[in-house]
Amino acid sequence: MYQIISPSTPEEFDRYFSLRYDVLRAPWQQPRGSEKDSEEDHSTHAMLTDETGQCIAVGRLQQNSAEEGQIRFMAVHPNWQGKGLGKLVLRHLETEARKLGLQRIVLQARENALNFYLSEGYANTGASFKLWDIIQHYKMEKVL
Ligand SMILES: CC(C)(COP(=O)(O)OP(=O)(O)OC[C@H]1O[C@@H](n2cnc3c(N)ncnc32)[C@H](O)[C@@H]1OP(=O)(O)O)[C@@H](O)C(=O)NCCC(=O)NCCS
Repeated sequence: MYQIISPSTPEEFDRYFSLRYDVLRAPWQQPRGSEKDSEEDHSTHAMLTDETGQCIAVGRLQQNSAEEGQIRFMAVHPNWQGKGLGKLVLRHLETEARKLGLQRIVLQARENALNFYLSEGYANTGASFKLWDIIQHYKMEKVL
């Protein structure tokens, strides 16, 4: 069955960042390393694995303030998209946010993921930026 862990070993982090890169960067020919930012050491990481240990979904929660968390880098392996796994990772990160005492989550949703977040109770507060001049993003927010 599936389980959600927080990567801790270098090998687990390799698999975690690889999926992030493969889903969110490689299709747009972005360089290795572009899948990480300066907040990795201060963030909560979630990695969903199958019974063989393969990493098939990931997501990250960072704390913006005492009240606000931000979810970034949500990615599900293409073969497993649309099967409810993204929802499991998102809900896991929301639970972690509540444990931290956070009161709301904000995020920047890619256009293709808007309906996913809407279905999980996020409100679209408007168009924000266009990544690489290609992918329109929308700011979304949810009160926990
Ligand atoms: C967006 C993403 C994380 C969603 O994860 P997922 O596992 O595919 O989504 P789920 O199967 O958990 O979907 C949960 C709900 O959202 C809906 N949904 C998911 N993706 C959708 C889409 N592209 N369009 C419409 N609805 C969608 C599902 O119908 C489902 O609703 P239901 O429970 O009422 O049936 C995943 O598809 C993905 O990695 N996409 C490519 C990368 C990306 O865009 N990441 C987000 C960056 S902001």
